[in-house]
Amino acid sequence: MSQRTSFYKFISEEQREHPFSSGKLTGLLLEVISACKKIAHLTGSGGLASHAMGAADSENVQGEQQKKLDILSNELFVESTQWCGYLAGLASEELDHSQPVPKEYPRGKYLITFDPLDGSSNIDINVSVGTIFSILEAPDEGDIQDGDFLQQGLKQVCAGYCLYGTSTMLVLTTGRGVNGFTLDRTTGDFVLTMPDIQIPPDTSEYSINQSYSRHWEPPVKRYVDECLLGAEGPLGKNYNMRWVASMVADVHRLLCRGGVFMYPMDARMAAKGEGGKLRLLYEANPMSFIVEQAGGVAHTGYERIMEVQPDALHQRVPVIMGSRNEVERIVSYHKDA
Ligand code: AHG
Ligand code: MN
Ligand code: MN
Repeated sequence: MSQRTSFYKFISEEQREHPFSSGKLTGLLLEVISACKKIAHLTGSGGLASHAMGAADSENVQGEQQKKLDILSNELFVESTQWCGYLAGLASEELDHSQPVPKEYPRGKYLITFDPLDGSSNIDINVSVGTIFSILEAPDEGDIQDGDFLQQGLKQVCAGYCLYGTSTMLVLTTGRGVNGFTLDRTTGDFVLTMPDIQIPPDTSEYSINQSYSRHWEPPVKRYVDECLLGAEGPLGKNYNMRWVASMVADVHRLLCRGGVFMYPMDARMAAKGEGGKLRLLYEANPMSFIVEQAGGVAHTGYERIMEVQPDALHQRVPVIMGSRNEVERIVSYHKDA
């Protein structure tokens, strides 16, 4: 029988390689995983969990209509992680402000930001969704406030996502490469199935919501126009396009076979004074950490995403990430412009 590496075995071995490791990050990750398994069960139940389907009567702080599953996933994530003693505070897409862990639980050394359910427009149609998280160090003392979360992506200790697709996969980095684990639904273990993920540096696949093209900035429009010209155009090859509308699924695809994912700045967002659509602290930064650790590039077009200094909890940024040579080309088009 071939030896399988469970997530717990994998992370324990990593921990043993660091003699000064306290095991606290491992402890926190085990609770994050337990939250993801519960969300996987809920999303996987579809219409059988009728209490979880459909729209809620509420909007989040960003003015987006919440789905019942957004709220339930958020509650599952908070309840599964806040008691563990490794966290000092949490911040979520679905919470107006960050919250410290309740006083009855010990205060830990980490902060976590998360998007409990990414791609929630796909819930009702049985298409892949996900959970994204980013772990930061907490200040040693003082009441936890939104400002404590406003750390550059470079400061992340760990980032990951769980994809609820045809299989459930956890993809994770602690700054030493990227590894992917598939949930064995019979044993409940996440098993290492994609060790040391590397994004191919070249690609002929891109991912963008093309219906917004009339609003894009010229460098992105130039790149996509060139892709559309295919082998007859300046890029000299034919391109394929994919858009799931769940960032987790679209980025997972490029980790598997290369590609470029873009949610660029556009004129409608600029008119509203917003920096983009995707949120820096719980979408762009964790995905950038993963993409960079897998050999890719993650950029706004103007700067490296992980170097952006956040100034608000729900701040939005333009996102261009994926295969190194292709993203560098798009960045060079921004410089030309
Ligand atoms: P969320 O469901 O957490 O609000 O995120 C949805 C995001 C992202 O996952 C996806 O790439 C994008 O929104 C899709 O946006 P469009 O519907 O504008 O294509
Ligand atoms: Mn999202
Ligand atoms: Mn979400």
